Amino acid sequence: MGSLLSVTDIKDDVKYILELASKIKAGEIEEKPLKDKTLAMIFQKSSTRTRVSFDVGMYQLGGRAIFLSSNDLQMGRGEPISDTAKVLSRFVDGIMIRAIEHDDVIELAKHSDVPVISGLTNLEHPCQALADMLTIKEHFGVWKGKKICFVGDGNNVCNSLLLIAPLLGMNMSVACPKGYEPSETILKTAKEYAMENNTEIIVSDDIGVALENVDVVYTDVWVSMGDEAETKQREIDFAPFQVNSDLMSIANDEAIFMHCLPAIRGQEVTGDVIDGPKSVIFDEAENRMHAQKAVLYYYMKD
Ligand code: CP
Ligand code: NVA
Repeated sequence: MGSLLSVTDIKDDVKYILELASKIKAGEIEEKPLKDKTLAMIFQKSSTRTRVSFDVGMYQLGGRAIFLSSNDLQMGRGEPISDTAKVLSRFVDGIMIRAIEHDDVIELAKHSDVPVISGLTNLEHPCQALADMLTIKEHFGVWKGKKICFVGDGNNVCNSLLLIAPLLGMNMSVACPKGYEPSETILKTAKEYAMENNTEIIVSDDIGVALENVDVVYTDVWVSMGDEAETKQREIDFAPFQVNSDLMSIANDEAIFMHCLPAIRGQEVTGDVIDGPKSVIFDEAENRMHAQKAVLYYYMKD
């Protein structure tokens, strides 16, 4: 038993989990492998994709999910995370949590007797990264040698992509304004993974440099949940980093566009790009469920 709080937790099994996801998507696993299992889902922030895909995913695997808004839990009134972890462990077989603070998820996992799966924190979004990699493999047939460029805020989504890309043999660049770089700790680990796998990672505030030879152009909102107070400043700082058709034309001709969603058209991406022929956003969203079913199987099957 372990937990999935970071891509680093599945460093050696990323390929295995993604192969499992493809098999599950193709209907090539046994019926109801998580029969009678229950997943508690704690949400401290809003969600559409994560909530629904985990819920439906558990149901399709033969189990069930319980949605727990942190506002309604005693945790929201100050009950310690450690007590919450110990109590839930007596009732359920796994806990999925979308949390404000990454450290709280670490605390939850430390005191839990069942696997804890992160559904996003301020630091990482590992399940999103798995779905993204499944989508890239489906589109190009390979990961090795392909290059992904994350344009915009060096946020949770960017951090998890930085960790997963080199593990699968992909090169990665990040194009972000100064002051919005990804986590230094994550970057250090990602560069170690890149060295081990003979791939390259660069972070630059020069979009032209970051987009050279790119197969996947990826962006996310300029204002993540929790950053709302900085909205005005961010809109100014990120304006030159909008993914539009001019910017897409720097990438390879066959490049695809990805976004974890939700998106704001006219802000981080223009409507013609996100709704255009290069966009794979809805395959990507669908793959959240297939990738997470593999995660649930991996962590919760007896
Ligand atoms: N991409 C993603 O995690 O979406 P939700 O916030 O809707 O769960
Ligand atoms: N970076 C975004 C991702 C939402 C799925 C956020 O944290 O709000």
